[in-house]
Amino acid sequence: MAIFIDSSNVTEIEEIVRWGIISGATTNPKILCQDGACGELKTVITKIVKLVKGPVSVELTEETCDAMLAQAKKFAAWDKEHIVIKVPIGGDALRVTHTLEKELGIKTNVTCMMSFNQAYLAALAGATYVSIFFGRIKDMGYDPCEVIASTREMIDDENLKAKIITGSIRHIMDVNEALLAGSHIVTVTPPILKKMLWNPSSELSVAEFNKIWRDMKNKGQIR
Ligand code: E4P
Repeated sequence: MAIFIDSSNVTEIEEIVRWGIISGATTNPKILCQDGACGELKTVITKIVKLVKGPVSVELTEETCDAMLAQAKKFAAWDKEHIVIKVPIGGDALRVTHTLEKELGIKTNVTCMMSFNQAYLAALAGATYVSIFFGRIKDMGYDPCEVIASTREMIDDENLKAKIITGSIRHIMDVNEALLAGSHIVTVTPPILKKMLWNPSSELSVAEFNKIWRDMKNKGQIR
């Protein structure tokens, strides 16, 4: 299992990478625009690659097969070892994925997936990663854990190379549920990663221990 950071905020990525728990990063057009990173895409993505030293997903925004392939080649040329092309599921997604993986040796992350059917097709097409959207599946009233568990079972049974990335994580419990359901990876935003670290009872315990120690020190009993 592994944790990726779902962000294009270089300052936050730099801070959290120092914790030693991040193996990769994911971005999408919305995240890039919200973080003010879309204008300097190449610079920002290159900085993220240097920080994370692992796979960094960059999503295609073109909508025809030829244009998607051209955009994918442009992104991949920035750092072929680390850049993973995020292909939104839909019309040309499987063809683009298959061409990138099998003909051009470019890794893909097929994204925006809400169902087992979609994830199965993407894995068969040769995707390195299949991204299942936990929060957005829940928004529709379905159970994302069932989608994750059935996708994982199929990947293992058929010995496919795809790894499941679960994104659209909204709460810290989503992380636990997604991993227990069979995700290989969860991609988590900086605010949720920080919440995962925090527990009120831990804070109280640490404060209690440190107060006892300070009191003894103030009484001159600790040298
Ligand atoms: C990650 O790969 C996804 O793009 C991201 O987690 C989507 O999150 P959202 O559903 O909160 O937009």
